[in-house]
Amino acid sequence: MEEKIIQEIKDKGIVKIDNFLDKYELSELSNIVSYYSAPKNDPKSYFPVNFWTLMLKILKLDLKRFFHSLYLWKIKDKKKLDRLAANFFCKKIKLNFIDAYYSKKSELAILPWHTDQAYHGKREITEFNHPDKFFLKIFIYLTDVSPNNGCMSYVPGSHKIGFAIRKAIYNKKIPYQPYWSLRDFKKILNDNQTYFLDYFKDTNLIDDFFKKIKDLDLNEKKVITEGKFSYKAKAGSAIIFDEGGVHQGSKPQFNDRMVLRYLYSPKKIT
Ligand SMILES: [Fe+2]
Repeated sequence: MEEKIIQEIKDKGIVKIDNFLDKYELSELSNIVSYYSAPKNDPKSYFPVNFWTLMLKILKLDLKRFFHSLYLWKIKDKKKLDRLAANFFCKKIKLNFIDAYYSKKSELAILPWHTDQAYHGKREITEFNHPDKFFLKIFIYLTDVSPNNGCMSYVPGSHKIGFAIRKAIYNKKIPYQPYWSLRDFKKILNDNQTYFLDYFKDTNLIDDFFKKIKDLDLNEKKVITEGKFSYKAKAGSAIIFDEGGVHQGSKPQFNDRMVLRYLYSPKKIT
């Protein structure tokens, strides 16, 4: 099972797992997340990732938080997420964060199509990202989601191109330019066609990528959530993806949404 999951992430950049949680786990986690009802990025949405920060909860006599955090750790251990991440990266891994948050039904803008580790908003760069520096994100949905309603979208296969770009910039094979947005991602591919042809040996992957993104909205300001390359997922499902691919957030427009996330990366980049 784990092997299949890893293979699918390596092939497509993303995998959806139905019934990742059983009914009991789903209800326990839903109780925890709704207890705080913390919005995204709120300090209350983050949970300890190491022993000392967990112990701090006891020192502060915040026993409720301590036991809630412990349960999130238990889920991580039960689902063998550390092992999955280590086998995916084939390296020692680091759990960068655990967060769980509540998003109210909303019409507010969400993140447009983008890729991560792509120098967003940066002009002067002194050090380029190592190609192996990227994140594996495990999204566990605690409420039902669907395309255009709280489920992220991901252009399958785009993580391979993301890796090639990171590698090319890091090795100074192509000139540096930020490529966070889909518009800039396209531009960097168009500006360096010879390099990418040489790297991939043919144009199949990039041609296929351009075909896939043909109708996607490139407007970064006016975010339209698109149902394309998205999923329908019942509460208790998980989506695991390589953040180096092109993806988009989606607003929960029909119902409130609760998610639990674990973010992994290699411990050391060598
Ligand atoms: Fe992202």
